[in-house]
Amino acid sequence: MPDVYPINDYGPLMPGLVMGGVAIVHVFLAQFAVGGGLLLCYFQWLAMTGRNPHARLFVAGYFKALVLISFVLGALTGVGIWFTAIQVSPATIGAMVLHFHWLWATEWTFFCLEIAAGYMFYRYHSRLSDRASLALLAVYAAAAWTSLFIINGIISWQLTPGAWLETRNLADGFFNPSFWPSLLFRTIVATTLASLVACVVVNTMGQLDREARRSLINRAAYLLIPMVLMPGLGLWFLAVMPADSRGWVLGGSPAMTLFLNLSVAASLAIGAYALVGLVVRKLYINGATATLLLMLAFGATAAGEFVREGARKPYSIRHVLYSNAIRPEEVARLRETGCLADDPYPVRRRGEFPNSQLERGALVYRRLCAVCHTVKGVNAVTDLMEHWDADQMRMNIAKLQQTKPFMPPFAGTPQELEALVQFVRWSAAGHAQTWPVSDDPETLAQISKWLAEAGPLPANSQRYPDLEVHAGE
Ligand code: HEC
Repeated sequence: MPDVYPINDYGPLMPGLVMGGVAIVHVFLAQFAVGGGLLLCYFQWLAMTGRNPHARLFVAGYFKALVLISFVLGALTGVGIWFTAIQVSPATIGAMVLHFHWLWATEWTFFCLEIAAGYMFYRYHSRLSDRASLALLAVYAAAAWTSLFIINGIISWQLTPGAWLETRNLADGFFNPSFWPSLLFRTIVATTLASLVACVVVNTMGQLDREARRSLINRAAYLLIPMVLMPGLGLWFLAVMPADSRGWVLGGSPAMTLFLNLSVAASLAIGAYALVGLVVRKLYINGATATLLLMLAFGATAAGEFVREGARKPYSIRHVLYSNAIRPEEVARLRETGCLADDPYPVRRRGEFPNSQLERGALVYRRLCAVCHTVKGVNAVTDLMEHWDADQMRMNIAKLQQTKPFMPPFAGTPQELEALVQFVRWSAAGHAQTWPVSDDPETLAQISKWLAEAGPLPANSQRYPDLEVHAGE
């Protein structure tokens, strides 16, 4: 039996959002680090071949920005991701480590190589020959990109595990259906970010005149050209996404559709400005505009990551693990044995509950709902059920996967469901001092019927038969 771990409670912030927030900042910095390495190699080459007389000065200045931002903040947020993940979904991160431990180890090796090469360049490049500097930068860039290559395989596997579900073969999981579109897309995001940061950095180089700065900016802008491939890669990614996930982002879930549109609009704005202004017309871009474009790029990355994470729902690893760490094949059993039987952790603020049913309700909430909801805050269950009477709550929770198809089926007994309903009502009523216990057998029998009607399978398992196979494993 899998181990159970409690989810941390962040008050009004939903755990998924905390995880997403840390991850977005990290992804942004990490992709900048990858693109920065490639851009530095290019400029070092420009300097060595005499193609741009100011490239040498730029390399030194840009590397400082890269080191400060990507090494320090990137490493901190990288640790932050692990720290957050173990509080939000230890089961997910556990499965990722279990199935891909050698890949993680390899990735960490490349990360160390990246840090070592970067540090050596930082410390010694003024004393090194041009060729040695280029070699160090090339090692740095290759190591950074290889980290992306490896992480991308693991992250994309979460959404599209593909043939791995049948074969459990490492290569099948790693080179899964969304591996290539995702890797190529991220690589282009990386060069785009690096190029935009370059435009900002060049504007800080006060010792150069405007013509000199323009020549550097025009060079940096070449790294924006691959953006023309983004629409195609985006469509490729959409095409290999599971049909239900694609449905959420293309209208099924208003929030995700909105974020997808924001991401696309921001990318188009950057792309249009970059290609027409910087590449074709070779215009100058001032520090303020460059910073604005960079902020737009951050917005596009954030919205894009939100959509990618959100589209996995109700899974954190498709077919393998629901977002609330329940396995699809466990649902039927948990409806018999209860989801609290194997959860040894006490509830927080125990003294506040007027009776033990409410305490159990809080535990059921923590186990089944807390990763995607809060009690009072973002996506709060009290708000979402504000206008429902008790029976509507019972039915809609019993049929959770039909209420909203991106929620997993309810995985507990009728008694646990009733405890949850009472917990939500008591929370909505402002934590009253006294609260009646609700154990009417007829109510429980009705809940039981609703649970049976909904069944233990995820939504859409009829429309997408591949879901059924694995949920029944
Ligand atoms: C995989 C994440 C996830 C899990 C787990 C989850 N939910 Fe949800 N739930 C959502 C999302 C996303 C929404 C949509 C919110 C919106 O429409 O604004 C939602 C909506 C709801 C709604 C409103 C439905 C409607 O028709 O308006 C209720 C009620 C609800 N959830 C209750 C629960 C309860 C109770 C649990 C635990 C038994 C739970 N959810 C578990 C993600 C989840």
